[in-house]
Amino acid sequence: MDHERELLMIPGPTIVSPRVLRALSRTIYSHGSGEFVESYIEALNLQKELFQTKGVPFMLSGSGTLGMEAAASNLIEKGDKVLCIENGFFGEKWAEIITPHGGEVNRLSFDWGKGIDLKLLEEKLFSNNYKAVTVEHVDTSTGIANPIQKIGDLMKNSNALFIVDSVCGIGGMPIKMDEWNIDFCLTGSQKAIGAPPGMSLFCLNEKSWRVIESRKTPISDYYTNLKKWRPIMENPKKYFATPATGMVLGMLEALKIIHEEGLEKRWKRHEIFSEAFQLGLREIGLESFPDKNNLAHTLSVPIIPEEVNDVELRNIMMKKYNVIIAGGLGKIAGKTIRIGHMGSDTINDISATLAAMEAALYELNYLKTIGNGVGAAMKIFSKQK
Ligand SMILES: Cc1ncc(COP(=O)(O)O)c(C=O)c1O
Repeated sequence: MDHERELLMIPGPTIVSPRVLRALSRTIYSHGSGEFVESYIEALNLQKELFQTKGVPFMLSGSGTLGMEAAASNLIEKGDKVLCIENGFFGEKWAEIITPHGGEVNRLSFDWGKGIDLKLLEEKLFSNNYKAVTVEHVDTSTGIANPIQKIGDLMKNSNALFIVDSVCGIGGMPIKMDEWNIDFCLTGSQKAIGAPPGMSLFCLNEKSWRVIESRKTPISDYYTNLKKWRPIMENPKKYFATPATGMVLGMLEALKIIHEEGLEKRWKRHEIFSEAFQLGLREIGLESFPDKNNLAHTLSVPIIPEEVNDVELRNIMMKKYNVIIAGGLGKIAGKTIRIGHMGSDTINDISATLAAMEAALYELNYLKTIGNGVGAAMKIFSKQK
């Protein structure tokens, strides 16, 4: 099988544009060279535009989890109360990350894939003196998108810091850090941004900085100590630890592509991808796992029918059609599949994925015909200008 022609439709890492791949293959610059420093500055400025913030951007080598760790190690001190909103695998990670940094976690848990009860959140938020609230923008395990703007409205009246994990949202769904009262927002390079895995991007506003500056205890980590990194983000000629020079060039190219497309247009494209893919899934009889009123636009998570074996389905799609999708995560493994439709994906990628899925389900004797799903999706695309 020609791996270079595979259609990588998992919810991250996603397909990377050849433009980004070419940028990644450039020569290795000295991290102090003018070429590199200028690229880093440009990338950090584009990052602020992407996050819609005037806050301080950080672009460090590491995965999305590094941003979660940085939030915990810089903002949380021993005994601080943190409210972790959970409705999926990644939401539940926050408690695991915050606890070793001394935070006392209070969980507000909802069933996986179910929407957040904002009334309950409001009651909980004002029932205790929380230092921070954590939430997933999109929980990639279930395909749910949480109402960040509405939660941000509640946070306006709270002293707690609003920490948002947008690893599977930013670049594909609206997020407006400053307007929505987000104090710490993080993502990774490998999803809707359309770059390879390996870079951790996050931004902090002034409220977060004041909390860091007024800590009673030292920051509980060395590499994620943002006081050490901030001078480099403000002037990348300075040194704290060697930046991943090649990856920064790749990130710059991916961020330029986003800038050229325009955020509004990009968000709309993802919304249409999601609408078409979800309709295609319904036409072939696959039900959505997440609450239909809170669907992420970056991925779809359908329930696998009882009579279908998910490994067989994914194997046919991969071996015969060169289309890679992901299995379910955590407690919904084997019961769901996950398909990413984000970043640099095109209509061709969406239709080929649906076609391969239909053909595989036909081969597994689940479907009696092929084409209903792709047909329905293509009708949505045909209406677009
Ligand atoms: C929503 C969400 N948060 C956090 C992470 C962790 O990111 P990483 O695997 O890049 O460390 C992921 C990874 O898929 C994710 O989807």
